Amino acid sequence: MKILVTGGTGYIGSHACVELLTAGHAVVIVDNLSNSSPRVLERIAQITGRQPAFHELDVRDRAALDRIFDAGKFDAIIHFAGVKAVAESVADPLKYYSNNVYGSLTLFEAAARHDVTRVVFSSSATVYGETARSPIREDAATAPANPYGRTKLIVEQQLGDLCAAGSEWRVAALRYFNPVGAHPSGIIGEAPQGVPNNLMPYVCQVAAGRLSELSVFGHDYPTPDGTAIRDYIHVVDLARGHLKALEYLERTRGMHVINLGTGRGTSVLDMLGTFERVNALRIPHRFTARRPGDTTETYADAARAAQFLGWRTELTLADMCRDAWRWQQANPAGYV
Ligand code: NAD
Ligand code: WQD
Repeated sequence: MKILVTGGTGYIGSHACVELLTAGHAVVIVDNLSNSSPRVLERIAQITGRQPAFHELDVRDRAALDRIFDAGKFDAIIHFAGVKAVAESVADPLKYYSNNVYGSLTLFEAAARHDVTRVVFSSSATVYGETARSPIREDAATAPANPYGRTKLIVEQQLGDLCAAGSEWRVAALRYFNPVGAHPSGIIGEAPQGVPNNLMPYVCQVAAGRLSELSVFGHDYPTPDGTAIRDYIHVVDLARGHLKALEYLERTRGMHVINLGTGRGTSVLDMLGTFERVNALRIPHRFTARRPGDTTETYADAARAAQFLGWRTELTLADMCRDAWRWQQANPAGYV
């Protein structure tokens, strides 16, 4: 297949491109490089032996998108492009509505003009909101607690309405839980700008001595060790889920919302302990207050992904910790 990958130089997109190229698909990446480096392209080629086509563009640029669609027919789109920092979305909601909602709308309009009607969309477990009970099934109520989550839900709704209006549309909205880790080669991985917001990149930077200690947000949660529980998923497993979703859309019409998680909960201290054990390191840490907006426990019911896609995660928490650290060590300052 020939696949248009928006946001393909980003963290998850780059891993998906590796899996797509390895499986023999043709890949065209579009990305405005607002949160990624063009060096990712040669890294993808280093792993796969093939360099994907790349166009630097913003998905809000209608004319530029038309030129890409005019140049050759795509079988499907995987739409990763977007902005994703929860706190920033509270401070600057228009940035989120513009990039995520308007950007997706512009992309889907261009796709419709060119009869490309298969879409795999990067959604998020954030759409479930703070009160959902884990394991969370896809039919749980949605109640995003911040503008970022609302933009993801709005795009899901755009896609649902499109599928309801025209039987040719085939869409998988994949609700990711907590993607972590890196390609096992250590050649591509997550390269956050500035001080990381998320647990795994923060732990890696403490391990590397770039940050002095980890703050563990909350030690009084009603969980076995008092720290909050999440469903961390290896980015390579996640990337493979996108290939399975493309295969599923070959045989199924309409709109499908699917969780991508392991179905297992891991506490912050479980994560720290595993990281220390597999990498033979000590991570200085101290307990601080809960982070506002954090849930006690969020993990997926992963049954639908197994049933619809025939996909299950294969990589372990130890793999996630080992691969994240390998990438960090080989690329202490990211893609420089
Ligand atoms: P990322 O920032 O590494 O990748 C996103 C890419 O999109 C970047 O390369 C960025 O330059 C590009 N981009 C942003 N706005 C754009 C625009 N208007 N036009 C063109 N390109 C644009 O993030 P990621 O972690 O790889 O996330 C990929 C997708 O998955 C995002 O849609 C994100 O919301 C979603 N998601 C991520 C997580 C996570 O924890 N990483 C969890 C759930 C969902
Ligand atoms: C995980 C756990 C923290 C940092 C976020 C987004 C979500 C999704 C994935 C895009 C929590 C604790 C963290 C630290 C800590 N992204 N923690 N010290 O908040 O589950 O999800 O990323 O869709 O929308 O909200 O992930 O990695 O930030 O936190 O103790 O320095 O680690 O409190 O319990 P989160 P996270």
